[in-house]
This record gives sequence, structure tokens and C-alpha cells, in this order.
Amino acid sequence: MSPVDGPGIFNPNLPVDQAVTEGRVPPRREEGIPELHEVDCPPQLKEKIEALMARYPDRRSASIPALWAVQELYGWCTPEGIRQAAAVMRFTPADLESVASFYDLLHTEPVGTHRVEVCTNISCWMRGGDELLDAFRAAGDGQDIFVTGFECLGACDIAPMASIDQRYYGPLEAAEAQTAIEQLLAGQEVLPEKALIARPLAADLPGGSS
Ligand code: FES
Repeated sequence: MSPVDGPGIFNPNLPVDQAVTEGRVPPRREEGIPELHEVDCPPQLKEKIEALMARYPDRRSASIPALWAVQELYGWCTPEGIRQAAAVMRFTPADLESVASFYDLLHTEPVGTHRVEVCTNISCWMRGGDELLDAFRAAGDGQDIFVTGFECLGACDIAPMASIDQRYYGPLEAAEAQTAIEQLLAGQEVLPEKALIARPLAADLPGGSS
């Protein structure tokens, strides 16, 4: 028989594709919906998730903010945190794990206490985003900081920019990365002159419509 005859299961010259014998649906760990008394959910997390669910007609829509609440509490989406959220939301942990593992901003493994996301998308890239990312990586090396490149963070007007613990800064120079990291670790205000929050609103500028 030619090696190209038929699918692998019929051809001794080809390895048998598992999908031929087992199908293409990956096996799922079918843990049911945990009960609240089984997961020891902190009351503040339970209240927060319940408030989030109340915002949506379908509680499934609260999955991402609920996982964000888990991450805020534990630093990442821990298996136990996911089980707690699942118990509150009446989902299986697998339901929430599939959401958590899909989104870059949700972590299913431990990361540093601080988070730095450097935008490397087109506007920031053209203005030195890659160099900025390298500088943050070097400055944060060995520290309790998670540094990563990121797609457009929606603040192209301050390119190149970075999100540092969920606050936006820009336009940044690569040389400022070290200072920013030192200030972050020291618990100081980070690059106050580069903080987006310190910039005036358009309505407050001359000609603005306040
Ligand atoms: S390209 Fe960097 S914020 Fe948009």
C-alpha cells in the first residue's frame, strides 16, 4: 500500500492520528459545579461576584470581571480562586478556566506582584516601543514584576506607552524604565509627569467644551 493511501488507521506506513480513533474533541476534566461550602470563598469575593452578575441578564457575561476579581484577590487566577468563583456563579471550574486561559490579562500561573505591559503595536512600535519593552525587561529582571509586551492599549496618543499596575504612562523614553521600576518597588508615585491621569481632559483645554 502506498504511504499516501487512505487515512493512517488503514495504512500501516503512517502513524495513526489519535483524532481518527478518538475524535477531535479534547478530553475534558468534568468536575461538576462546586458547592459554596466546599470552596471556602472569602465573603468579599462572593459579594463582588454577585454584584457583577447582577449587572448582566446572563450571568455568564460576568465571567471575565469575576475572574479579574479573583486575580485581584490572589494575584493570579488560582485553581482554588476559580473554584470559588465557579461555586458563586454556578458554573463548573472548567467553564471559567477556559475563559481565564484565553485572555492575556488573566493569568493561570503565578506572576509578579506588579505588572508592566508595554505596548508594541504600530503607533508605539514606530516611536520606540520595542526598545521601551527591552528596557523594562532589563530593569525588572529578577524583581517581583511581570513585564510583557502588549497589543494596542488604546492610548496611541501618548505613544510609546506602558501600563504600570493598570495606570497608563507615556510618552516614555527607554531611559525612564529604570526609574519607573525603582519607584514602583519603593512604593513611590511612578513617573508623575508621565501619568495619563495627570493630563488635562480635552474639555479643560483652551477651546474645550466644558
Ligand atoms: S499602538 Fe500603543 S497604545 Fe495604541
